[in-house]
Amino acid sequence: KIVIDAPILIIGSGYGGAVSALRLCEAGKKVVMLEMGLNWEKSGIPFSNLLKPGKSAAWLKKKTISPFMNIFSLTPFTGTLDRMDFEHINIWVGRGVGGGSLVNGGMAVTPKESYFKEVFPDLDADQFYNTYFPLVHKELKVNVISEQFLKDCPYYKFTRVGEAEAHKAGFKTIRVPNVYDFQYMEKEYRNEVPRSALNTEVIYGNNHGKNSLDKTYLKKAMETGNLEILDLHCVDNIKLNDDTTYTLEVQQTDTSGTVVSDKVFNCKKLILAAGTMGTLKLLLKSAAVNNLPVHEQIGKSWGNNGNFMTGRNWVKPLSGGTGSKQSTIPVGGIDNWDDKEHPFFTEIAPLPMGMDVATALYLLINRVDKKGSVSYDASTKKLSLDWNGSNTAKMRENADYFIKKMNRANGGTRSHFLFNNGFGADVCYHPLGGCVLGKATNEYGKLKDHDNLYVLDGSLIPGTIGVNPFMTITAIAEYCIENLIRQNEFA
Ligand code: FDA
Repeated sequence: KIVIDAPILIIGSGYGGAVSALRLCEAGKKVVMLEMGLNWEKSGIPFSNLLKPGKSAAWLKKKTISPFMNIFSLTPFTGTLDRMDFEHINIWVGRGVGGGSLVNGGMAVTPKESYFKEVFPDLDADQFYNTYFPLVHKELKVNVISEQFLKDCPYYKFTRVGEAEAHKAGFKTIRVPNVYDFQYMEKEYRNEVPRSALNTEVIYGNNHGKNSLDKTYLKKAMETGNLEILDLHCVDNIKLNDDTTYTLEVQQTDTSGTVVSDKVFNCKKLILAAGTMGTLKLLLKSAAVNNLPVHEQIGKSWGNNGNFMTGRNWVKPLSGGTGSKQSTIPVGGIDNWDDKEHPFFTEIAPLPMGMDVATALYLLINRVDKKGSVSYDASTKKLSLDWNGSNTAKMRENADYFIKKMNRANGGTRSHFLFNNGFGADVCYHPLGGCVLGKATNEYGKLKDHDNLYVLDGSLIPGTIGVNPFMTITAIAEYCIENLIRQNEFA
């Protein structure tokens, strides 16, 4: 086996990993980052779009795994989108250098301050709203679509129709910022540059326009000369040594998923940023196979961020419609959060199927009043999730209320075309929690019962944040790593 020593190791190149890498590299530390997915930029392989799924479409699957319309067969490849299936919920995640930023819709939403305070009563909200959220807004290159372009562009008919219908039903709408460069989008519309968002590119990666982490945090970290990213390196388990260092068993694969090398990494400091599910799997599996100490709070307070998909079909499909051409980048949302009975936020989502399917798609984000928990099943060697219909009951009630109110005002039916019964309770894009800040970790993400192990990713957020989560994940990672560096944790 090849043995490699690295003082500081980061597992995962999503938001938490990228922030940690940049700030440590800026502080002059040498950092090695292990990422199980491919470095797409370096590989030169283009991302595929929704209508012609290719290499990037799915992580080692024979068929596409988008939430609907999976009629395409694939040759297994280390693609960007993966799905983990549990009994009552399917969880989608991004794979590759950049993690979830490669596949996500780029919606860059700052949570409501009142809810942030409720979720994180021990954090200084003023500091977050005055310092960390503005900082990540700048670093992630967040921008807002021009109202004129939105009004004129045929690719945003779905948003205009969605907003008009919401207003007619008495709902309040909001403009949603994004990391997709809207100046670029205007140029694509004028055919001055290659098309990406206007060419059905998103959940299998964007070739242009989107400021994913490889274009922001990771690029800056690489420019320091202190970061080495090893892609196609999957960490299997972690062992705590007597001298408080860590040893990791790692498998390097090729793009067909075949193991080409078994490696061992030794490190003094280890940052887990493998995303909520990846981090929980590594911790809980390592506890089972290597007796890695794990605090009793690990696996607790897990949630789907209230994700609940639903949709509407028009009664007379051809009378209205959402447009045959749709941008993949959502810019509109409905904000019903302050309604005491039915608090939710929903994205007015695109459905770029290449034809007018006269269907509106919504991803609701609800409160998660009943949390789930995650454990490791040593017999199946898989994570198991304590999560069922009782956890999503209130979310379903909200979706039902929303769809009925929209249909009463505008016509239409709940969409059975998209989901079996019109409700996608099992669709989760935002797994959060299980390693909650201040509970399983100290106040800055250092794991309890450990001297040299840190968690900096979505698992720090206790299952819910009320809006799309990457702004919060990034802000919390900034806050934690700044304080950990200040406390000389990486000296
Ligand atoms: P993240 O999941 O980004 O990164 C973890 C990385 O670790 C991955 O690259 C993974 O491959 C790697 N890894 C895992 N296990 C490993 C192992 N054992 N060894 C090596 N590497 C390992 N959010 C939002 O705010 N706005 C939005 O518009 C959307 N839209 C959206 C759409 C879709 C389709 C999805 C799937 C998700 C979203 N999200 C979103 C959610 C958002 O992308 C997500 O919350 C963040 O990417 C999570 O960031 P983390 O840093 O926690 O991990």
